[in-house]
Amino acid sequence: MCGIVGYVGANDACPFLITGLQRLEYRGYDSAGIATYRPGEGIRTTRVAGRVQELETAVKSRSMVGSLGIGHTRWATHGPATEANAHPHLGGNGILALVHNGVIENYESIKQSLLAKGYHFASQTDTEVVAHLAAECLKTRLADPNQEPNIGVYVEAVQETLAQLRGTYGLVLMFRQFPDLLIAARCGSPLVIGVGKGEQFVASDTSPLVGFTEKIIYLADHQIAVIRPDSIQVVHRDQGRVRPEIQTLSAQSQDVNLDGFEHYMLKEIYEQPDSIRNALRGRIDRDDATAKFGGLNLTPQQLRSVQRIILTGCGTSWHSALVGEYLIEELARMPVEVEYASELRYRNPPVDHKTIVFGITQSGETADTLAALREMKRKGHHTLAICNVIGSSIAQAADGGVYLHAGPEVGVASTKAFTSQLTVLSMLALYFGRLRFLSFEAGLRIIDQLEKLPEAVEEALQTHTQVKSIAHRFHAATNFLYLGRNFNFPTALEGALKLKEISYIHAEGYPAAEMKHGPIALVDENTPSVFIVPKGTVYDKVLSNLQEVKARGGPVIAIVDHFDQQVANLADEVIQIPAVEDFLQPVVASIPLQLLAYEIAILRGCDVDKPRNLAKSVTVE
Ligand code: G6P
Repeated sequence: MCGIVGYVGANDACPFLITGLQRLEYRGYDSAGIATYRPGEGIRTTRVAGRVQELETAVKSRSMVGSLGIGHTRWATHGPATEANAHPHLGGNGILALVHNGVIENYESIKQSLLAKGYHFASQTDTEVVAHLAAECLKTRLADPNQEPNIGVYVEAVQETLAQLRGTYGLVLMFRQFPDLLIAARCGSPLVIGVGKGEQFVASDTSPLVGFTEKIIYLADHQIAVIRPDSIQVVHRDQGRVRPEIQTLSAQSQDVNLDGFEHYMLKEIYEQPDSIRNALRGRIDRDDATAKFGGLNLTPQQLRSVQRIILTGCGTSWHSALVGEYLIEELARMPVEVEYASELRYRNPPVDHKTIVFGITQSGETADTLAALREMKRKGHHTLAICNVIGSSIAQAADGGVYLHAGPEVGVASTKAFTSQLTVLSMLALYFGRLRFLSFEAGLRIIDQLEKLPEAVEEALQTHTQVKSIAHRFHAATNFLYLGRNFNFPTALEGALKLKEISYIHAEGYPAAEMKHGPIALVDENTPSVFIVPKGTVYDKVLSNLQEVKARGGPVIAIVDHFDQQVANLADEVIQIPAVEDFLQPVVASIPLQLLAYEIAILRGCDVDKPRNLAKSVTVE
């Protein structure tokens, strides 16, 4: 889940390496480093326990230059975020340097055999083990007086190294004695090569490449790329040399500035009317009172025979899946199951052949979601991705899917991707419903509601000033409860997740009525409860739960969609959002919840865009 960059060519590598790492910080940001090569200097590394900004200062102060270089921004797996554990790691006595994304599962046994051979380890990482192992494989070959040190020797040494690794990796290596060569290898962790003129780039996703080249090659698992300024060769472990497919880089990842907002998270919260419009664009079909999708890669007849849907994902995307379950069951009357991707990948549930599987993911790179989809595909199910990042690993691995078109989401806590996922899931529910029992008129009513959604979200954003003052009142609390029912049970889960992610306050989301079976024990005058209580089928029921909390002295923040004297009398704070049909309430109710988490985090001095211990894209298990 770390970020990787590499450069080989005629120019100085550092500007690309630093810019690239800045764009990749969403993958991890606890330490960073680069290695460059310059004739006469050999391989030099600069590493810091901190952000890329600190690395940039260190690189400048050491006047690092070189036309070959690799870089890394880390999310710690093995060993804490220290300079010693930061990448790049050197192999042997500095014969090579490498950066790694992924987890090497058998690193301990390899380490023992390398220790026995006299290798010293300066870090606690699994990556340094790979570096020394590669150095050992290379050393044996370079020691052979019958063998000229040509490029083939380096490739073979890397291949021998990879053959001994168990786990996942995206690796980029550079060598002291081959100053115009990078070798990149992939197994489970994405790598993309940017093709330039007399220079080439490597990165763990396309964002660093924007502005440097438009031609890209995605490496597939078990491929290695031999990258030189004027050539790229791709070799597959089993198939030998393969012809790389050069694709054009989409411009999507370019839009990554703050536009005057203090944080990406706030900017992305405010982008939601537009991101929802973009999710809807071109997908509403009033003539047939349905939605349409270009990339499901199933005919309406095939879709008609689907009998069950599995929705899977992680984190916020898993919450979207929960809303999706309510949506599809309610509007399309189809059975839906929601699975944590991390569980689904190792379970073996009995699933019949009429089941299709949707993986929901903002990044398209979440390791567990990718693995779960692959496993379901292996079992013969049609797999689909609901995904934001175009060309991501999950978008490529699935049999079809729907893009969110939400634009880049930079803030680690997901906001606009969540509401776009809900918008897409609502349209899918409409589409599946219209293939079944939903009438033309009912379809049109749903479309009317969907088309009003961006304005409703715009209106919900106007609660910001009020939410800010509520944040002032409650930001010192150490526990929060979030409670809702039906469609708003997942909304409660997502509200609680937002708060804990960025403010580090313990928060629990619960179905409001379930509160009586445990969480009510937490209620006291210092534990605020956020109730999502818009009008709808369960309104009176949630109101009773609210009363139960009040009766025990707990402060209540109520989110309502109409003025209600009863709620006003009971609750300490009432936030009014626009009224929409219940199936769209999670979208609109999420807006004040996102703002509340944001404002509380700011008051507590937290780094909202890069909260501690988290990463935007979790590419390890
Ligand atoms: C990480 C992020 C979350 C995100 C989850 C799933 O934990 O911090 O915000 O919801 O991964 O990511 P995905 O890209 O698959 O939606």
